Amino acid sequence: MKIIEVKDQQAGGQAGFEIFKQALADKAQVFGLATGSSPISIYQSLTASDVDFSDKISINLDEYQGLAGTHDQSYRYFMNQNLFNAKPFKESYVPNGLADDIEAETVRYDKVIANHPIDLQLLGLGQNGHIGFNEPGTSFDSQTHAVDLTPSTIAANARFFANEDDVPRRAISMGIGSILKSKKILLVAYGENKADAVAAMVEGPVTENMPASALQTHSDVTVIVDHAAAAKIKNRENIIVK
Ligand code: GLP
Repeated sequence: MKIIEVKDQQAGGQAGFEIFKQALADKAQVFGLATGSSPISIYQSLTASDVDFSDKISINLDEYQGLAGTHDQSYRYFMNQNLFNAKPFKESYVPNGLADDIEAETVRYDKVIANHPIDLQLLGLGQNGHIGFNEPGTSFDSQTHAVDLTPSTIAANARFFANEDDVPRRAISMGIGSILKSKKILLVAYGENKADAVAAMVEGPVTENMPASALQTHSDVTVIVDHAAAAKIKNRENIIVK
């Protein structure tokens, strides 16, 4: 894993932007995208630039079940607001959280991913080490699936809702196996509440109890962290400090 330590989220946004630009120069066609607060500075840098995604494809990691794409806490709405309205893609896929048949929706989504292999996958990191909505215990072979969110994820995401009761209890998420098929992976994490998960991800045992540790098995992963999120990494030799 390549670890880039930056001073703040804005600098992380710039560093992430450079990786997107390089991927575009390398002819990437399909971008796996993520929600959460951590990727926002990358989306801001992309939005402020002249990059053009109009002939590219985006595939989002996850979506809450039960929220329409027009709901202001749905991940479809988040992506429209933070990226797609300013930088439209030729096709943008987000799981349909309102699908009547969630099982069929997961099968459909896996076909989307199979038909459009992801060149660059952007990820955030949950405090418990989740990637997408793959909570601890999820198989490293998992494909798109329905998820029961853990109490810690519900509590962490409650800050975006009027109250915790409004946070959906279920989601649809790309699986860890799906994520690991991406050619290149970029994960961003900021703040001291991510420090334990970051250290476990980069140098802890590879275990399904720590979903992000699966990234140790992938050959092309870049992690962008700020000082606080990097604070618990013991082996600091390979960290690139910007
Ligand atoms: C949610 C999302 C994840 C995201 C995580 C961390 O649970 N499903 O994809 O990585 O939140 O979000 P934040 O970057 O806001 O800490």
